[in-house]
Amino acid sequence: MNNNNIKRGGFSSSFGVLAATLGSAVGLGNIWKFPYLTGANGGAGFLLVYLLATLVIGLPVMIAEITMGRAAKANPISALQKLDTQKRLPWWLIGVAGLVAAFLILSFYSEVVAWVFAYVFKAIGGSLLSSDRQVTETAFTSLTSDPLQSLVWQWVVLFFIGGILLMGVTKGIEGIAKKLMPILFLLLLVLCAVSLTLDKASDGLTFLFRPDFSKVTSGVILTAMGLAFFKLSLGMGTMMTYGSYFRDDQNIPQTTLRVMAADLCVSMLAGIAIFPAVFTFGFAPAAGPALVFITIPAVFSQIPGGHLLMVAFFILASVAATGAMLSLLEVPVVILHERLHITRTRATVLSIAILMVLGSTCALTGSILADFKIAGMNLFDLFDFLSSNILLPLGGILLAVFAGWIWGREHFTAALSNHGQLANQRTISVVLFLLRFISPVLILLVMLKGLNLF
Ligand code: PHE
Repeated sequence: MNNNNIKRGGFSSSFGVLAATLGSAVGLGNIWKFPYLTGANGGAGFLLVYLLATLVIGLPVMIAEITMGRAAKANPISALQKLDTQKRLPWWLIGVAGLVAAFLILSFYSEVVAWVFAYVFKAIGGSLLSSDRQVTETAFTSLTSDPLQSLVWQWVVLFFIGGILLMGVTKGIEGIAKKLMPILFLLLLVLCAVSLTLDKASDGLTFLFRPDFSKVTSGVILTAMGLAFFKLSLGMGTMMTYGSYFRDDQNIPQTTLRVMAADLCVSMLAGIAIFPAVFTFGFAPAAGPALVFITIPAVFSQIPGGHLLMVAFFILASVAATGAMLSLLEVPVVILHERLHITRTRATVLSIAILMVLGSTCALTGSILADFKIAGMNLFDLFDFLSSNILLPLGGILLAVFAGWIWGREHFTAALSNHGQLANQRTISVVLFLLRFISPVLILLVMLKGLNLF
């Protein structure tokens, strides 16, 4: 497969690389998933397992993906074909699995982003201003149970993100990320500062930082690992795709470490903004996925200046979600563009058309499809479970094995160090050791145990 004749975009500056990659990692994972999963799984014990999974598994896999992407300068499927010199097994199928994972995640993710976008307007209009949880719950269910509103907001999100992608990699993805990331940190710090001044702030912090290991079961460990993959956008070719836009002189281990640290920082700050407030006003931390949409408005309604803060919170969530959505949608766009030899515009339109159909199955789980369940889950939960807990970890195992054993030490070392110019040998050896022996085994064990297979 020869893609050399297709002119590829790329990230132009070092800050741009960092902003775009961080933009992909930071998303609803930090603001929506991280708080409710931490709440539902016992707080700090979960947090610790998640931290461990990020460091031991996430970091090496992320370095491997970016390095392979940069070396191949192609979409994940073509990249795996190019790098596979042995040609004994169809390793490119990992890229196909990544494409499937991208569509599954986009289907439910775009619906949550749809709620967030809708909530910016609801927050501005003041209809969410009530300290009565019943009122904020009704506001949420009236949105999710209305098929038309759910669909239309999802389409708005898809068109908006598609529009940015049409501006290209440099102007679109990198340009927007460079503007959004600073805004995100600023808003987050303001919200944290307010939350920390509340009465029961310390209860919230204790919940978040004092571990209780009695809640840490094998299922919880699987969830924490799945979150680590989801958070860092790993196991489905997103980081491989972004790696293909990296400049050759970019220091990959350093960039990866920075992205991981900053992403953790955002999750922590989101936790610090949310839990003290939740405890102060007597809500349960384990409120599930609706925490952000039902509890948060009720909490903010009781704080002075809460109207403005609530608007700030949902703008923050929209900002975070935009960078992540861009990276999710970029995967099918670049695959369709380069594999089917169609223009980027056509590839974008085609991806959005597919998502309007597939995504509707998630958008309608609050209404028409409420009773449609497979294995006890509605399609929204099923897509989330399948992608986070199965496809991404499985992709992680295969990518680690491919990088460590098939592509091999020599190629990996040359590509990571930009032919000996960057990164010291020790870092490379440690990463390779983790990729070959530790990450795949750990992921497999956690998956098998978490799915009760042994
Ligand atoms: N990392 C993003 C988040 O935390 C989600 C994501 C997953 C993005 C997989 C790209 C690929 O919200």
